[in-house]
Amino acid sequence: MSYLGIDLGTSGLRALLVSETGAVLGSVERSYRSEHKHSGWSEQDPAHWIAALDEAIEELRHSSTAFGDLRAISVAGHMHGATLIDGTGAVIRPCILWNDTRAHAEARDLDATEQVREISGNIVFPGFTAPKLAWVAKHEPAHFARIHKVLLPAGYLNYHLTGAFVADMSDSAGTSWLNVAERTWSETLLEAGQMRLDQMPRLVEGCQPAGTLRPELARRWGVGDRVIIAGGAGDNAAAACGIGALNEGDGFLSLGTSGVLLAARDGYHPNPASALHTFCHAVPDRWYQMGVMLSATDSLNWLGQITGTSPSDLTADLGETLCAPGRVQFMPYLSGERTPHNDANIRGSFTALGKDTTRSDLTRAVLEGVAFGLRDSHEVLVETGARIDRLLAIGGGTRSRYWVKLISTVLNVPLELPKDGELGAALGAARLAIIAETGEEPDRVLTPPDVAERILPDAKLKDAFDAAYDRFKAGYPTLRTVSSLT
Ligand code: XUL
Repeated sequence: MSYLGIDLGTSGLRALLVSETGAVLGSVERSYRSEHKHSGWSEQDPAHWIAALDEAIEELRHSSTAFGDLRAISVAGHMHGATLIDGTGAVIRPCILWNDTRAHAEARDLDATEQVREISGNIVFPGFTAPKLAWVAKHEPAHFARIHKVLLPAGYLNYHLTGAFVADMSDSAGTSWLNVAERTWSETLLEAGQMRLDQMPRLVEGCQPAGTLRPELARRWGVGDRVIIAGGAGDNAAAACGIGALNEGDGFLSLGTSGVLLAARDGYHPNPASALHTFCHAVPDRWYQMGVMLSATDSLNWLGQITGTSPSDLTADLGETLCAPGRVQFMPYLSGERTPHNDANIRGSFTALGKDTTRSDLTRAVLEGVAFGLRDSHEVLVETGARIDRLLAIGGGTRSRYWVKLISTVLNVPLELPKDGELGAALGAARLAIIAETGEEPDRVLTPPDVAERILPDAKLKDAFDAAYDRFKAGYPTLRTVSSLT
């Protein structure tokens, strides 16, 4: 028996085949590009997703004999993208992606509309789906008039796989049309965004069956005629499933290009005022919340570029023993910030430089600035009552022992480094497929990985870092001036 998890990412598609116990049987990747026709625009042709899927399946079929015994499939997708479908099932225009900011004015107007934050549980970010549709209504009325359904990227693959319009709750929570507490489409939100209920896909939980594989695909792929398609998930919910972050107290810190601090929640406790995302999880009666910082390892990469040094050499200069906070301060806002500022125009800075400032001081300041940015997310998560006992730390930045120790101390939370192995959204998706087909309890399938090492906060330096964090926050008023300049 085998199960397929598809991670429909922004830069490519990954297909992961696993056994009923989640053991990896095969994995294939195909990349595609985004188009940026104007500044702030980001689009993809859904036909490229299908082509990538076809190629990936062709390769998996031939490289892994277990593929023939495929039982279920689930898709994890990049969130918020608007794929517009007409009455014949054809795609009307390229998908407008999550990182497309053209709809900032529409987002501002929707965000200011009564009840929108209250029902959706979130700020309406320009990248979310509803403002994109308001933009299409205004700038492409002929396209808008043809819309039969709006699908998110994962929903579009579900449509391709099953022939039905069906989406999961975790992805749908990022549209600004979902009542995130009740896990239903909200007529009030749809009306505010000039949309109708009949234009939305049917909702299912991520781990529930959404349909079966179309007979034509089953024949072409050489699999049985009862392959189940699970509801699937948004990429972060799927990643949480991949590392077993399901219950209150579970979460992860992803130290990649951007930084994500995610906590699984047993209940619905939104905090939109601080730009925290509150979304449905991919399993029933669970939610998750996350703070997103836009430039995490990206800040260190930038320092590496301008100093002509690799990020790993920069961090190697610091050694492994955590030092008290330095005098130099770095504000990590090279590309604006989501949590907690929700401002695309703020920018970063170094302060308190002196003639004695060395490259290592700058590196230390960058690592500290990112750690303080993550603490902002941690603070607003804790404000909602989230319990964060420990965090699994993943992503390229965790290769720096200094950084992991620093973040653990700044957050005052133990960080766990997983053993090497499969962890990501594709595994999460494959696990959702297993649950949908076997009817297993989610808690039994969505288990945490083995931990290689546990990094504890440095108690001796905690007070010094608390004081440094207060100094970091004291710099916020200046950000507004910077924002008005750009
Ligand atoms: C969440 C978000 C990302 C995208 C891209 O708000 O924007 O999860 O799906 O990965």
